[in-house]
Amino acid sequence: MIFPKRTCTCGELRKENENIEVVLNGWVSGVRDLGGLIFIDLRDRYGLTQIVIEPENRPDLAERAKELKSEFVIWAKGKVRLRSNPNPNIPTGLIEVLLEDYGVLNKSQLPPFEIDDSIELQEETRLKYRFLDLRRPSLQKNLILRNELYQIMHKYYYENNFIEIETPFFMKSTPEGARDFLVPSRIHKGKFYALPQSPQLYKQILMISGFDRYVQIAKCFRDEDLRADRQPEFTQIDVEMSFIDEEDIIKMTEGFFKLLWKETLGIDIQTPFQRMSYKDAMEKYGSDKPDLRFGWELKDISDLVNNCEFKVFTDAVNNGGTVAVLNVKGCAETYSRKKIDELTEFAKKYGAKGLAWMKLADGQVNSPIAKFFKKEELDAVIERTEAKDGDLLLFGSDKWTTCFTVLGALRLEIARQTGLLESVRDKFAFLWVVDFPLFEYDEESKRYVAMHHPFTSPKFEDMQFIDDNPGKVRARAYDIVVNGAEVGGGSIRIHDTDVQQKMFKLLGLTQEEANSKFGFLLDALKYGAPPHGGIALGLDRLVMTLAGTENIRNVIAFPKTTSGLSLMDGSPSTVDEEQLKELGIKIINN
Ligand code: AMO
Ligand code: AMP
Repeated sequence: MIFPKRTCTCGELRKENENIEVVLNGWVSGVRDLGGLIFIDLRDRYGLTQIVIEPENRPDLAERAKELKSEFVIWAKGKVRLRSNPNPNIPTGLIEVLLEDYGVLNKSQLPPFEIDDSIELQEETRLKYRFLDLRRPSLQKNLILRNELYQIMHKYYYENNFIEIETPFFMKSTPEGARDFLVPSRIHKGKFYALPQSPQLYKQILMISGFDRYVQIAKCFRDEDLRADRQPEFTQIDVEMSFIDEEDIIKMTEGFFKLLWKETLGIDIQTPFQRMSYKDAMEKYGSDKPDLRFGWELKDISDLVNNCEFKVFTDAVNNGGTVAVLNVKGCAETYSRKKIDELTEFAKKYGAKGLAWMKLADGQVNSPIAKFFKKEELDAVIERTEAKDGDLLLFGSDKWTTCFTVLGALRLEIARQTGLLESVRDKFAFLWVVDFPLFEYDEESKRYVAMHHPFTSPKFEDMQFIDDNPGKVRARAYDIVVNGAEVGGGSIRIHDTDVQQKMFKLLGLTQEEANSKFGFLLDALKYGAPPHGGIALGLDRLVMTLAGTENIRNVIAFPKTTSGLSLMDGSPSTVDEEQLKELGIKIINN
């Protein structure tokens, strides 16, 4: 098809272009027939340009234009003129194009929804018609931002002497943490490849091979329960360095963030970022990824209430647990009993058994549990929590982790409910969380599991506890948190075969299991492994943070639903009997 090709895009024309002849190509965003004038909004990824027909002067065009409907693809030729009614909301708002001729390049069926950012749509509909959804300016903006991130990342790491190396998608299944996605082998029936949960082992091996500095935009695959900030396939900026320690990784990453924020948002961020130990993060904010854009620090009051008459509290303390308080500043009035009941239900989702509370008014404590405390005890709690009239105190009383996790979840939820989160929307709070425990005790399987991953090095000074009290050993690991989102995590690795063997043993792997799963790593470590470490940044989450969206699907072109479906192409799907036979697979219907 021969057609007049555009001389400029739909986002380009300004008042300086008055009187020039142009050709535009794009999609009809809307047609408004005002009788005396007909307006056609033409859209492409660069913007929107208003095209105008004057029926009095061009009755032929006015007649023809009746065919134009939303999402028709057209070419339009005309002359740029200044608008009599400028639109300050769009960059092309000062001009319009007086139409001289046009042609339809393709028609469109009536779309199931209007391509308009201000319209609320069911996400299912959006995902099913993703090709139309992706025409929406907000999604295009996010994907363009994502592209900027790729470019900045490549430039930054290249200039810092990193080399990009691709690692395989088909690898050995070594599930740790999440489940693997498996790919059956046709040639080796009964055997499977696994899609990588991350290129962790390959990047370590690249260090052993001497590449010194590696980076990759890596696709990762994890079969885990999905949430608003998780996808089964997602992208990391994966980094590994040799002959370094924590400080080198941290500094290199901060440099990248500084450049990224400057180039994408024009914001100068201050480095170095604040650092906080895992213990402090949990005890002050009830989270290992605290949102530091607002205060509301939690207070441990175990020592103040260990002799009170409220059994819930004393039992917790006597059993080695914790009692802590969230002071919801000035919210005593906002939270009626009914609303506190709702908060209690919310807290239970995080493992709370109840939610004790106190309100302060006229210097008095109003609470169903006040009667269990002596005046000195109440005074001490008020002093520690800096409570004032009008404040609402919420109490957690449980095992250390549950107590703080519950209060941390409440802190965020109440900040959301009261509009506090909205009021800090434009702020950025960066934080390194450090000094993580090396192990986490898994109640279900009654064993220790690696908190980061099994290749993370213990802190040298904590090695003395590794046999008798592994829970006390801290890891040389770090997470980077922005506004309460974990946007990256990494560690210094074990580069000694014996320590790595010991680690596998502590994680409950027999020598045979360790060899069969990770033999290649253990082997490689024997041949001169340099000290090394790295980090992986969640690229999708970084874009979410920069774009200010809480939904990961808004920064991925073709995402999955929370149940892992791709509604547009209908995957996962069944396959032919023949395909299964070739792979030696039989489906058992339960
Ligand atoms: P980790 O498992 O912490 O570390 O992952 C690093 C970062 O990747 C992001 N991320 C995700 N983003 C979207 N959807 C998911 N399902 C998802 N899972 C993780 C997070 C996270 O901080 N190999 C190690 C890194 C290392 O030690 O160098 C690793 O993968 O932002
Ligand atoms: P009860 O003694 O069970 O009637 O509880 C009195 C108050 O303490 C209620 O407001 C409960 O929600 C609250 N409560 C009960 N268990 C806990 C707990 N483990 N942590 C915090 N508050 C609790």
